[in-house]
Amino acid sequence: MKRLRTRYFAQVKAEGRKFTALTSYDTMSARLFDEAGIDLLLVGDSAANVVHGHETTLPITLDEMISMASAVVRSTRRAFVVVDLPFGSYEESPAQALAASVRVMKESGAQAIKIEGGVEMADTIRTIVAAGIPVCAHVGFTPQSEHALGGYVVQGRGDAADELRKDAQAVADAGAFAVVIEMVPATIATEVTKQLTIPVIGIGAGNGTDGQILVWTDAFGMNPGGRMPRFVRQYANLGEQLLQAAQAYRADVESGAFPNSDESFED
Ligand code: KIV
Repeated sequence: MKRLRTRYFAQVKAEGRKFTALTSYDTMSARLFDEAGIDLLLVGDSAANVVHGHETTLPITLDEMISMASAVVRSTRRAFVVVDLPFGSYEESPAQALAASVRVMKESGAQAIKIEGGVEMADTIRTIVAAGIPVCAHVGFTPQSEHALGGYVVQGRGDAADELRKDAQAVADAGAFAVVIEMVPATIATEVTKQLTIPVIGIGAGNGTDGQILVWTDAFGMNPGGRMPRFVRQYANLGEQLLQAAQAYRADVESGAFPNSDESFED
């Protein structure tokens, strides 16, 4: 099985088909999602929330991202692996962003990096792309700026739609191979998808984009009690199953039912 390349996503768009993406942060989920045929796995900085239990995506470090990314790469054969540059690792200058991207590519073996931002990140994208590193951009709602944006708020409504169009065009012109567009009205996302020649990956952006991405712990029920955006469809309730399994194990141990003789060694 061959690893997907950026041209796969361009081809899917050109043929008017759809592709799939999920987040992944570890070997267990990566192996299963690869087997399921998910095209793109994003080692997202959402790991700060769902893996490390932080309130925002801001605290996660580049070292932590690289460690998770290398596990995801090692556990997949086909999926295209994209890694988020975490907050603070790229905003200072294109040179800082390039240094962080080079570390990700060298140390994790991933196929691309992702950064948040539109027009203001165009020069940075150009610099990284010029070094031979595929860049996925991220516009609309950008979680690393949640304090500046006033929380998890839909972007691109009303007059802000024009800014969104400009952001999307700027990252495409700068050489991004794809762009994530998060939490924007479906009509605007569809329009931007038609406007751009690069693939657009939607999250909370309706069904007119070329691809869809979800945070896997949201989609498969491993985020009990956590914030659940309305755009998430829950395909499984793994959290409930895991809870029940842990409770059954505890009950068996406490009652002496586990382990039985089949689960024990003889003399
Ligand atoms: O970090 C992440 O999970 C993301 C997705 C929301 C696209 O950036």
